[in-house]
Amino acid sequence: MSISIFLLFLFVSPSFSAFVAPVTKHHVHNTPFYTLKLQLKTPLQPTYLLLHVGATFTSVNCRRNYTSTTSHPIPCNSSLCHSLQSTQSINTKCDIATRNVHSPGGCVISPHKSFALVDSLALPTTDGRNPGQLSVFPEFVFTCSDESSRLLNGRAKKVVSGLAGLGFSNYSLPAQVSSTSSVFSICLSGSPSAPGVAFFGISKPYYFLPGIDVSDQLYYTPIVSYHSAITTKTTQTKRLEEDYFIGVKSVNVNGKPIIINQKLLTVDVHGNGGTRISTTTPFTMLEKSIFKSLTDAFKTESKIMNLKSFKPIKPFSLCYEADGLPETHLGPNVPQIELVMQNDVVWRVFGKNSMVRIVDEGLDVWCLAVVDGGRGSASSVVIGGHQLEDNLLQFDLGTKTLGFSSTLLQYKTMCANFNFSTNDAIKF
Ligand SMILES: *[C@@H]1O[C@H](CO)[C@@H](O)[C@H](O)[C@H]1NC(C)=O
Ligand SMILES: *[C@@H]1O[C@H](CO)[C@@H](O)[C@H](O)[C@H]1NC(C)=O
Ligand SMILES: *[C@@H]1O[C@H](CO)[C@@H](O)[C@H](O)[C@H]1NC(C)=O
Ligand SMILES: *[C@@H]1O[C@H](CO)[C@@H](O)[C@H](O)[C@H]1NC(C)=O
Repeated sequence: MSISIFLLFLFVSPSFSAFVAPVTKHHVHNTPFYTLKLQLKTPLQPTYLLLHVGATFTSVNCRRNYTSTTSHPIPCNSSLCHSLQSTQSINTKCDIATRNVHSPGGCVISPHKSFALVDSLALPTTDGRNPGQLSVFPEFVFTCSDESSRLLNGRAKKVVSGLAGLGFSNYSLPAQVSSTSSVFSICLSGSPSAPGVAFFGISKPYYFLPGIDVSDQLYYTPIVSYHSAITTKTTQTKRLEEDYFIGVKSVNVNGKPIIINQKLLTVDVHGNGGTRISTTTPFTMLEKSIFKSLTDAFKTESKIMNLKSFKPIKPFSLCYEADGLPETHLGPNVPQIELVMQNDVVWRVFGKNSMVRIVDEGLDVWCLAVVDGGRGSASSVVIGGHQLEDNLLQFDLGTKTLGFSSTLLQYKTMCANFNFSTNDAIKF
């Protein structure tokens, strides 16, 4: 009897409340960006949203051709609306049937401001190995705005219809799809033809072909999130971001620490200074004095390594001839950069992530993929997309820790190696 119950138990298909989405790299005029693909509206439509780890809300440009039988605005006087307004939004108003009027509930809806909507959204479930059946979230809350076009300077409108907000908020994408877990992970692929992956609500396993569980390879460091208000010049509206900062305490080049004013590495209560992770910044951006310190040290070390330098190619300032620069599976063999965290764990950055290859007519060079953020830059270090490629990052908002793998290439796998073949036995 007990054996048959046991067998019965074995054959009941497991259910998962973890979800997965492909993340694709795109290029517009040599500027890379990353989109997350999900299903939106009724009937469900494949939708590409700009991946933004710091954004509070998911937003969709719904003034342009938005048709769905299930979308409905959030009434002004509803508790959901009050909760949206009290928690984080400065400029997010809830909608009412007619815009541009003063509602009795007291909100003014201007056509230039974003407003909140509810619609169906769907993502495949996952067991960390494959995607499974689609799971629909019928009451997904997002805002209607053209934030993604602004971030992309109006480019890529045909591909990108909004923003996937993964910030620290109750209305971010991870918070709405997995109410029981506060963990999500991203793994950006460096190749536009083979997508990387984002996981929601699962902290392990993360299997990548040929069968490597990357969750075993993570280092952990505390994560701090800060609201930083950003004023948009054109509309004079403020939006809030809930960015993720980590405590980098020093930067090494070939094992030697570079000189950094320590004050710059500390984030203040307004979210200024410190080290921020950004999926919408293509290349790592450093405050001017840190940039100079790093490039000086890199130049010195590359001379010792006999690298043949080449004239700078904008926006980069150190470039080397590809000819004669030995390559390994971790990229070109250049001085190694290390970010040392407050808790002494080290994020190693090899050539594949520190250098970008530029091939043009009669030109083949590798440039240090770091740009000068100037003096007044809000964050002193912004770790950008190129540096994140083929690294798995796990954000745990409950324990406030970031898990990072450094490059997966050292484990002979990469972000594009998640097996996206559907296994229908995996369901919610
Ligand atoms: C509007 O959406 C429909 C269906 O998704 C599409 O066929 C049509 O081309 C779109 N129109 C414009 C102007 O984008
Ligand atoms: C708004 O909600 C409050 C509290 O539920 C209620 O007393 C008030 O009448 C509502 N106002 C309108 C215009 O619906
Ligand atoms: C999310 O909601 C919970 C419960 O309603 C609340 O305690 C918490 O402060 C909210 N978190 C944020 C980031 O708004
Ligand atoms: C990918 O997953 C599918 C479904 O589980 C499986 O049949 C297939 O063998 C996997 N591919 C590889 C290369 O392991």
